Amino acid sequence: MRISQDLEKQINEQITEELWSANLYLSMSFYVADLGYDGFAAWLKAQSIEETEHAHEFANYLITRGGKALVDKVDVVPQGWGTIEEIFDNVYKHECHVSDRINEIMTLAVAKKDYATQDFLFSFVREQIEEEDSADRMLTRIKQAGERGLMYLDKHILKTFQQEK
Ligand SMILES: [Fe+2]
Ligand SMILES: [Fe+2]
Repeated sequence: MRISQDLEKQINEQITEELWSANLYLSMSFYVADLGYDGFAAWLKAQSIEETEHAHEFANYLITRGGKALVDKVDVVPQGWGTIEEIFDNVYKHECHVSDRINEIMTLAVAKKDYATQDFLFSFVREQIEEEDSADRMLTRIKQAGERGLMYLDKHILKTFQQEK
């Protein structure tokens, strides 16, 4: 059964949302790299790549269900950021916002009795638990590090990224 037009529209909006998120984290990554925080920059860059992958996942699902996946206009993201703590507070809040969006699409899928879309969306419900948690954990570590410990934490994060390669 072809996906309903309402759900197709919502998922296309979510593709735009994921692409906007990718740009948001890229903007943050550039900003912190400029401040000399290579570890935080690497973390944010990895997040940005993940968001682009999410856009692909939503698009592929739409295509599989006979829908049309679109690349729509993506609004400009903020360019200037404050402290590292403020940046990661924004990351956490943004992830909570994305979770709300996924839940809204789920509500529609339930109303439409579209079980396939519900099943697909559950992977994102689970993904968002992780996304919120990893942002929240970063924020906690940043708060604990304080201004003095920030460079040390940054180096530690960079090291974990280098080990993963
Ligand atoms: Fe995402
Ligand atoms: Fe995310």
